[in-house]
Amino acid sequence: MANIIYLDNAATAKVDPEVLDSYNQITLKYFANPSSIHSLGQEASRLLDKSREQILNVLKLTHHEVIYTSGATEANNLAIKGYCFANRTRGNHIITSVSEHPSVLNTVLELKDFGYEVTILPVNEKGAIEVNSLKAAIKENTILVSLMMVNNETGAINPIKEIGKYLKKFPKIAFHVDMVQAMGKLPLDLENIDMFSIAGHKIHGLLGSGLLVKEKKIILKAINNGGGQENNLRSGTNALALSASLAKAVRIAISNQAKDYEHVKALSKKLLDYLKDNQDKYLINSHFEENPYIVNFSLRNHKASVVVEALSNRGIMVSSLSACHAKHEDYSAVVYAMTNDLNIAHNTIRVSFGRDNTLEEVDELVKNLEQIIKEIKQ
Ligand SMILES: Cc1ncc(COP(=O)(O)O)c(C=O)c1O
Repeated sequence: MANIIYLDNAATAKVDPEVLDSYNQITLKYFANPSSIHSLGQEASRLLDKSREQILNVLKLTHHEVIYTSGATEANNLAIKGYCFANRTRGNHIITSVSEHPSVLNTVLELKDFGYEVTILPVNEKGAIEVNSLKAAIKENTILVSLMMVNNETGAINPIKEIGKYLKKFPKIAFHVDMVQAMGKLPLDLENIDMFSIAGHKIHGLLGSGLLVKEKKIILKAINNGGGQENNLRSGTNALALSASLAKAVRIAISNQAKDYEHVKALSKKLLDYLKDNQDKYLINSHFEENPYIVNFSLRNHKASVVVEALSNRGIMVSSLSACHAKHEDYSAVVYAMTNDLNIAHNTIRVSFGRDNTLEEVDELVKNLEQIIKEIKQ
């Protein structure tokens, strides 16, 4: 299909050619197993260590370690199960929120079967959690709070900084943050966060790469057993080329964050201006203009799935639901939690921008939306 307009960057973002180039070169040159003791293996091992250091330097972290994973799903599972299993004697209560990605929510829910108690915080009408509801949920047996910084469907921003500061009063509680939709997009304040997860493919890195960063003092239990790689926390031969190219993707994302942000802000403003001028047709579900990367809106009078398909037939890629829900549910649980309105939750469209999008592409999206809605009416 010629001239595709790709506006689904929150699902996955096109790989940066520089990152791919790194991946290819490392695959060919450093092909030895980093655990092998011969010199080629040791060279690979040194490169792996260097890539961890690069990530920590770029993120300005000094008391942390990097655990490479296959993506954020695995990183979230390791953080949550790993922490709860290793710290069972300290308590068994976990706090999370209704708007979390399934890799957090379903992991926490599974722990109920292992005797853990779970509190799921609601979100307010803007889609974010309230600090007071978190404060009220903390109990004597609470050991873990796991929240996302940015919601993948609406772009809502949680008050992570304030929560992290508050949780410092409770040394027994670890704070895990799913940073997937925030990394490289918003300025990050990582102070007072004990663990956070990242996915390579959301920051123009490669699919299959991800990481969990944690404070060294946080104790986890491995969730898969094997040869003890990644400091005994994630066994399996390290995919060095994925790991080292992820370090490059993180570096590029952080160094371009401010520039990309300004660019994307202009794109989302254009789309939001159009939606605000047409509120008889659209209800805007994204209430944080500080996060221009995701614009979520509902069609008041039409089926989102029909409009998304029609846009796709015209070469414009947006989502009706986030990719991880699209095949299982037919409405957005996050938008439902915010609005309590099934019609609105059924008919959401998510436009998610990336650094390669242009103002002309936003014009095309708006023009085609108008045409499609007119055609459906006729
Ligand atoms: C907020 C958030 N967390 C976790 C994930 C899971 O990432 P992955 O599919 O790379 O494992 C996603 C992916 O959509 C996400 O948006």
